[in-house]
Amino acid sequence: MIGFRPRVAASLVLAALVLSLRPVLASPGPAGSARVVGGRPVTAGRYPFLVSLQRVGATGAAAHFCGGSLVANVWILTAAHCLQGQTPAGLRVVVGATRLSAGDGQVRRPAEIRIDPAYDGDAAHGADVALIRLSAPVEGITPVEPVRPEERARWEPGDTATVVGWGVTSEAGTMASDDLLAARVPIQPDVAMTAADAYGDSFRPSDMVGAGPVEGGSDACFGDSGGPLLVGRGSTLRQIGIVSFGLGCGRPGHPGVYSRLGEGRVRAFVDSLVPAPASTGVERRP
Ligand code: ARG
Repeated sequence: MIGFRPRVAASLVLAALVLSLRPVLASPGPAGSARVVGGRPVTAGRYPFLVSLQRVGATGAAAHFCGGSLVANVWILTAAHCLQGQTPAGLRVVVGATRLSAGDGQVRRPAEIRIDPAYDGDAAHGADVALIRLSAPVEGITPVEPVRPEERARWEPGDTATVVGWGVTSEAGTMASDDLLAARVPIQPDVAMTAADAYGDSFRPSDMVGAGPVEGGSDACFGDSGGPLLVGRGSTLRQIGIVSFGLGCGRPGHPGVYSRLGEGRVRAFVDSLVPAPASTGVERRP
């Protein structure tokens, strides 16, 4: 699709620059102000497995730049485009925070970054998935489980999913949100995403799933990348996608694009590194 890919690339670069230059810790934002691309604040503790990936500057200050999710006690799932060119030494991982400036959550250092070898540097080509192995396990937080193969019926087009993150609250936004926000987004049929007036060939159903209202208004945005797309709640909560890209944010006819975690190549990469959960999650209460 003419004009699409360059704009995505430009957006990614812009997001990376802007978010890394502005420490979120200094940006609480007025309470009750209009936030998001259609989201609302999340109750503390609702998504304890949510991860803020932060760049550590020379002064030791840390700035949020991408989301992620705890999928095992030493593994963080995120997007490949978040980690390209990053080294473990330049990063820290905060697990279980809600308001970033509050300084809560468990801080860990990456031991190792694993980017899907099929990722070629362009999220619109697919394979936008990566894992971070932590130098020490996270304690007392139940990881989120990628949706099970036998649960395919739980993420059909038309079903409502939830995207969560600290990303900017409008397409023109420059500052990460201090509060964790969530937006409800309907899962789109693949044919709606590959339509010529949507993403055309830049949407690859083998590696991607689309979610967002056709009329726009609710979406992930810059800084949400790497974070989870979720279905269900309590013991049935599952991750079905990873925030990857979009044309702008919340625009009509251009729902958000997520790495397809439920099946296919993206899932195979995750399964090749992360051990399956030991239990079925029944100890977690709704
Ligand atoms: N690539 C963006 C990031 O790095 C996320 C874009 C998601 N955009 C969207 N419209 N759903 O944070």
